Amino acid sequence: MTDKARIAVLISGAGTNMAALVYASRIADCPYEVVLVAANDPAAPGLTLAEAEGIPTFALPHKGLTREAHDSAMEAAVLEAGAEYIVLAGYMRILSEGFVERWTGRMLNIHPSLLPKYKGLDTHARAIAAGDSHGGTSVHLVTPELDAGEVLAQIAVPITPQETAESLAERVKLAEHQLYPRAVADYVSRWRNPGWLLAQIRTRALALPETCEQESFGSAGFRAGEGKSGKYFAYFSDRPHGHERIALLVKTSGMDELHALVEDQPETYFKPAFYGASGWVGIVLDRPDLDWGAVDAWLQRSWRSVAPKRLTRFMDIADEF
Ligand code: GAR
Repeated sequence: MTDKARIAVLISGAGTNMAALVYASRIADCPYEVVLVAANDPAAPGLTLAEAEGIPTFALPHKGLTREAHDSAMEAAVLEAGAEYIVLAGYMRILSEGFVERWTGRMLNIHPSLLPKYKGLDTHARAIAAGDSHGGTSVHLVTPELDAGEVLAQIAVPITPQETAESLAERVKLAEHQLYPRAVADYVSRWRNPGWLLAQIRTRALALPETCEQESFGSAGFRAGEGKSGKYFAYFSDRPHGHERIALLVKTSGMDELHALVEDQPETYFKPAFYGASGWVGIVLDRPDLDWGAVDAWLQRSWRSVAPKRLTRFMDIADEF
């Protein structure tokens, strides 16, 4: 991949996490670049640093604006910068539901606690008061409910005997500066991560009735039907012959369909070594714009072509109407 993911970082204050994200992006092979730093406070010290780093900035005080109007203006700046992801770094604003929903799966936050513990404010004081052995930090996806989205990564930080909220906050920030750039890098490049892709395929394939996973020549394979009579309907293929892509192999109706697919959409489909001869098609998985709905449809179709009649009979009847 040559293209880097474009991220906008939203801050409200010091912006030390933003700085960590920026400096990590300057290391060769970092899969993202920071294309905008935006703040809801024009006096946020982080803006000065971003400007000195030559990064475009945007600032708009929220005072006097409705939440929606302020969010829309921030969002317009993010879109204008061509960002694909929004990364919140000490952005101390509750976001409107519409804004969050438009960025589902593309907005990340860092929160100074071991979520699901201590959502909201005063996280360090609350961890100390509770007698916890550790505080920490979490990177999570942003959903409309505050600090409740899927946790992507965490670091636990011990609470020492004389700990104060301030001293703990400082040490947690050191951990955050390590964690956030790595978590963002992993997230924006997961579309080409074989482990993540296999987990997606596995969940989807095993959600179909009476399926199981069985390795075949080093690839994860998925079978429909019970025991020995089960038949393969999908393989996860991680570049077995060097030149191929990370792919899902599924059954087409035969050579005519296979050749038509490969001819019409060479970016998406290819004829896999060995399996292609019996009408299996390779669907390229390692692409940022992969259509997971289409992958699901192929899995279902391929499953149906080998599944026992007793399972597919009702579907066949339904199709006739
Ligand atoms: C960070 O510790 C971050 O986890 C926290 O604010 C700090 C910002 O510091 N965020 C929240 O509390 C969000 N609920 P920074 O401006 O130096 O990056």
